[in-house]
Amino acid sequence: MIEKIKQRIEDLKNQINDWNRSYYEFEVSPVDDSEFDKTIAELISLETQYPQFLTQDSPTQKVGGSVDSKFTKYIHKSPMLSLSNAFDDNDLRTFDNQIKKSLENKKYSYVVEPKIDGLSISLIYKNTKLYKAITRGDGIVGEDVTDNVKMISSIPKTISNNSDYFEVRGEVYLPKLEFERINSERFKVGEKLFANPRNAAAGTLRQLDPQIVKDRNLDIWIYFLMNKENILTHNESLKVLSEYKFRVNPLSIKTEDIIGVIKIINSLSAQREDLEYEIDGIVIKVNEFDHYDSIGYTSKFPKWAIAYKLPAEIKTTKLLDIFPTIGRTGKVTYNAKLKPVKLAGTTVGAATLHNSSFIIDREVRVGADVRVKKAGDIIPEVISVVKDENYNSLPIWSEAKNCPDCGSILQRIEPEVDQYCENDFCARRIIRGLEHFVSRDAQNIEGLSIKLIEKFYEKNYVKNPADIFKLSKRKDELIKLDKMGERSVDNLLTSIENSKNKSLEKLLFGIGIRHLGKKSAFILSKKYRNIDSLMNLSEEELSEVRDIGPIVAHSVVNWFKKETNRSIIREFKDLGINLEYKPAMEEKSHADITNKTFVITGTLSKSRNYFKDLLISYGANIANSVSKNTDYVLAGEEAGSKLDKANKLGVRIINEEELLNII
Ligand code: IVH
Repeated sequence: MIEKIKQRIEDLKNQINDWNRSYYEFEVSPVDDSEFDKTIAELISLETQYPQFLTQDSPTQKVGGSVDSKFTKYIHKSPMLSLSNAFDDNDLRTFDNQIKKSLENKKYSYVVEPKIDGLSISLIYKNTKLYKAITRGDGIVGEDVTDNVKMISSIPKTISNNSDYFEVRGEVYLPKLEFERINSERFKVGEKLFANPRNAAAGTLRQLDPQIVKDRNLDIWIYFLMNKENILTHNESLKVLSEYKFRVNPLSIKTEDIIGVIKIINSLSAQREDLEYEIDGIVIKVNEFDHYDSIGYTSKFPKWAIAYKLPAEIKTTKLLDIFPTIGRTGKVTYNAKLKPVKLAGTTVGAATLHNSSFIIDREVRVGADVRVKKAGDIIPEVISVVKDENYNSLPIWSEAKNCPDCGSILQRIEPEVDQYCENDFCARRIIRGLEHFVSRDAQNIEGLSIKLIEKFYEKNYVKNPADIFKLSKRKDELIKLDKMGERSVDNLLTSIENSKNKSLEKLLFGIGIRHLGKKSAFILSKKYRNIDSLMNLSEEELSEVRDIGPIVAHSVVNWFKKETNRSIIREFKDLGINLEYKPAMEEKSHADITNKTFVITGTLSKSRNYFKDLLISYGANIANSVSKNTDYVLAGEEAGSKLDKANKLGVRIINEEELLNII
């Protein structure tokens, strides 16, 4: 039994670490927030019950977020903690029982307040003046964003408290209407849309130009006073904060017990839609400050507060039409045209329906009522259909047969569920492909928006990625174009010029080989070093590369087989574009480590990621579980089942010291 629990903890940690890595490295979240939160909740609960298995490298021991180098770092005077989560009334009662127990029948009350979906900030005042504004960062070290925060008009720049250190904490957010306004302006000029108000607020606070911050009308709710002298309760501190002219949420309510908490949660949830800002939960805090120490803290969150998470909103509305669109690889996406409906703060008139089997499986019909949800993305999703009397009389939907743009017959290559437009000369595919080629993770050519690409395509200036690098020859024509001007043309041509020296994986990802993602492009570039070696490989050779599957291998070979594509590569060469892999870090190699497969287990002196990165820098592969293909198990203290398996399979086991000796 205990072994099983230990293994479960290990699996949960690996799963969460993988999700985190994928989020930080590839900027994609592989699961939705509620699944992530549930997995973390299970891990925390097991680690609390079995503290002997709690290790320093557990993801529960790190407060989320990461610190970038753009802004000066600042160490928080006391860590900016996070909150643990409750998902239902049961979780709330458990929370209340724990408090009751640790307070040994002493009297206590609660304050319930909206959990604002923004980003937390610490404001420090010295001798009445606003001195610093620091983001949470990793909870310990944040970033100094004072100049930007000074642009938020509702933040007092002077207060009537002259302590030499006065700190408050709160949440900076973007009101729903501002979010819609900014996104519609970005849409007009072809800029990438913000996914949600929180991302928009985060992106805004990290701007290097405070003027942009000023134009975006961020706001703030202050929810915590750090200097508590003579103040006994949270509720009282909120009053003091408003007296100092801080913006304090009027919806914060004091209540005597958990029954009161649940009632307030219900009434706040009902108001969610009408609020001018997004909330993703409701925070419950013990009111009496002198109880805080006896209730206590974990390294991640206080035990005297909890966040009740609200589910993503779901709305029902009429499906007016289903229409296909074509992406850069020719893939067809089906979209729903909806009767506009208010959802999570914005008006939604379209949603994704993914592919035709998604529609067929759910038996979606045009004219029916459908349920829609926003899953943290810009584009909402249709989740199901309402099968009422009206539904039965509606015609059954059938999939498109032709590309909506070029009219060619759509193809499906079994077992794939998606349909594709296979016409390499389809205008929409080319334009989408060019948009991808210049995007941030590819050539990162700033200023070349989809609107400009469409214009250049129509004018026959740009028909393929290589043509982008020939735009400098058309400078005079570009300047004459509507809304261009000499300065913006100069900026555009400079960013095109600067993109010529990027490492190979950016270009390989950018040219839009179907199924070849950022990670595979990196793996192939690193292994084969230049485009010449890469473009002549066979499917068999490619499939043998670790982490490259047969579908990617087939697609890469297919792409390089086409003469039109080979001629684009020749043009890149003639235009002086870099086609070699340029390592970002110094690459090392060692006969005993390079290309060997390692599994890391147990508690080591530094985090697992440290050893993972060290081994990867020597060209090793890291696997999660031990198999006959494992070359080494790097084992720390209290290594469990992986060690047993390694022993059984005769895999070489080394400790940290032996690894460092080898290196
Ligand atoms: S109290 C130690 N109150 O939620 C107290 N946090 O998941 C910690 N948040 O990092 C925070 N509204 O950014 C508190 N009314 C509120 C909040 C709130 C939003 C955020 C805050 C925090 C995160 C925790």
